[in-house]
Amino acid sequence: MAEIGVDIERAAAFLRQGKLVAIPTETVYGLASNALDVKALSSIFETKNRPSFDPLILHVASLEQVNPFVSEFPEKLKCLAEAFWPGPLTVLLPRKASVPDLVTSGLGRVAVRVPNHPLTLALLAQLDFPLAAPSANPFGYISPTQAAHVAAQLGLQIPYILDGGACAVGLESTIVGMEGEQVVIYRLGGLELSEIESLVGPVTIQAHSTSNPSAPGQLASHYAPRKPFFLGNLTELVPQLIQQGKEVGVLSFSTHFPSLSADRQVILSATQDLKEAAQRLFMAMRLLDESEAELIVAEFVPEIGLGRAINDRLKRAATLPIH
Ligand code: TXA
Ligand code: MG
Repeated sequence: MAEIGVDIERAAAFLRQGKLVAIPTETVYGLASNALDVKALSSIFETKNRPSFDPLILHVASLEQVNPFVSEFPEKLKCLAEAFWPGPLTVLLPRKASVPDLVTSGLGRVAVRVPNHPLTLALLAQLDFPLAAPSANPFGYISPTQAAHVAAQLGLQIPYILDGGACAVGLESTIVGMEGEQVVIYRLGGLELSEIESLVGPVTIQAHSTSNPSAPGQLASHYAPRKPFFLGNLTELVPQLIQQGKEVGVLSFSTHFPSLSADRQVILSATQDLKEAAQRLFMAMRLLDESEAELIVAEFVPEIGLGRAINDRLKRAATLPIH
């Protein structure tokens, strides 16, 4: 079983040996390896059961550390990186040959970000290589936002989990890149669109294509619990399902259902605070997935600010088309 601790030296030693270490970030926990060690990289794919067409994000300690790996840093993207790094922003940039093909799945661009977590920044500062890190969950399952989530699923396969507490943002990073002069969003995430647009003007969103995913985090079914997961109007659905004798688990934005026991419902934010809802979303999905409920029902949150990314994750977690 993985050791869980806050020993940066120990985490660094495992990484130098080509082993995998789970690392905390402000978004979700990552499953990290030396990004320049092809053998270590391939164990990320094995451990997550992740298809090799799904590329990885390079994590570095500062904007300057991106230089050895990218051939170009378009001005608009640099402006975003300067404003929001360290933070929940991933930038797609033309790669140099120094980036292993396994990191980019052979694509022309590499994804890079500077995560905002003191332990992981201190760890990166000690290493003379960047870290490749997908979210530390089995492929397709809910991303982990606590060390215990990682231990529950990957604990037997990795030697060390760096415990940075609960992730402050709780949603994966927002992924941006350029197409011509246009800034494009490939994944909605922890950095709000309005913050991006306030610096670079209107952006295009390409976060819904499923046929040819340039970012497989955008596959229609992803971030999904194991139990059937439905979206709809809870005030109608919950009484109906209870009447049908279903053991239902409820994920609501702010409504409490007195007819359900406390272990069958999670309220994302009693005060309807979207930041709080984002921070708690994946934890809530896991709790209900592990509960005695036979199915889970959830509702959309307001489609504003972080609500857009929350709703995106809810849709991808859903078992069937929304009615
Ligand atoms: O917040 C995050 O981004 C977290 C933490 C650990 O940093 N990481 C994360 O990684 O969410 P992952 O692997 O679960 O999702 C990364 C997404 C994938 O959908 C991948 O396809 C996309 O980024 N991506 C990575 N490199 C890419 C590339 N070169 N071109 C297009 N998409 C890329
Ligand atoms: Mg992921």
